[in-house]
Amino acid sequence: MNAAMTRREFAALAGAVVLASPASAQTGEFMTRAIPGSGERLPAVGLGTAYVFDRNDETTRQKAAAVVQALVGGGGSLIDTSSAYGDAEAVLGEVIAAAALRDKLFIATKLESPDAAELKRSQTRLKTENLDLLQLHNVRDPQQSLAQFRKWKEQGVCRYIGITSTRHGDFPAVEAILQRDKPDFVQIDYSVDDREAEKRILPLAAEMKCGVLTALPFGRGRLFRAVHGKELPDWAKAFAGSWAQFFLKYLLGDPRVTAVIPGTADPAHMTDNLGAMRGPLPDADQRRRMAEFVASL
Ligand SMILES: NC(=O)c1ccc[n+]([C@@H]2O[C@H](COP(=O)([O-])OP(=O)(O)OC[C@H]3O[C@@H](n4cnc5c(N)ncnc54)[C@H](OP(=O)(O)O)[C@@H]3O)[C@@H](O)[C@H]2O)c1
Repeated sequence: MNAAMTRREFAALAGAVVLASPASAQTGEFMTRAIPGSGERLPAVGLGTAYVFDRNDETTRQKAAAVVQALVGGGGSLIDTSSAYGDAEAVLGEVIAAAALRDKLFIATKLESPDAAELKRSQTRLKTENLDLLQLHNVRDPQQSLAQFRKWKEQGVCRYIGITSTRHGDFPAVEAILQRDKPDFVQIDYSVDDREAEKRILPLAAEMKCGVLTALPFGRGRLFRAVHGKELPDWAKAFAGSWAQFFLKYLLGDPRVTAVIPGTADPAHMTDNLGAMRGPLPDADQRRRMAEFVASL
């Protein structure tokens, strides 16, 4: 809950999401959320791949293979990558093909522009013709159009289209494109200590029936540094088994969030993060307490 949303509105929205998609609540084995535009369910914790798989060498491929196995083994399926993340697409393509895991994964990548050659390069590196989600990376101009992405979607190149941004100065462009092009997903930075997206992007995404992926859920590791050497408070142990789950469950406690995509090169961290898909979520009062706690560090 935030300044722009009263407790009643939050409860109504949470109820609406649960009613529209019973498995989107924290019931069942692990948490899935409905993609607003289609109703398809997505496991609520995925894998981000910025920085972690930049070099296509044996050590990186082994790390990536272990992390992807941990993702799938723990009930996850969403991998977020980009044509601009060094060799990450190529590393993932090799690892996924070697383990024959393509059908178990929801692959989201990003292009810098609606360019056919860049698309072809991503498809080749990822070793798949059919992407699940194709996103326009770091939108910054309100005039940027998703027309070509929509054509590709109609041709079956991808099942969903989206936009991304983690620069608050570019939020006006995000808002303009959300309203005009109505993408299936928006990927935005959102963490318990950086909640700008709650004010403007999350409400608009809900209105546009647009799924939300949260980039930088740990603030690139900033949150772990803030709690270094500190125990989880007792009141948080009812819903979180680790600091990672505390930070991720804050985000998943907002029903407008479709999935979180923490980045990791460590399979044990992947498993820890997937734990945020299990057990209860914090309610609105607990979420307020979590934000106050982090702000006081
Ligand atoms: N504009 C955009 O489109 C955009 C911009 C930024 C990010 N993104 C996406 O968002 C994803 C997430 O962002 P990010 O990876 O930069 O930052 P992040 O997820 O906020 O933080 C990643 C850091 O957290 C650590 N970590 C992960 N799980 C942990 C755990 N359970 N316990 C302790 N430490 C843990 C990682 O280290 P270890 O490797 O040691 O686990 C890494 O140092 C990216 O990977 C990318 O896919 C998109």
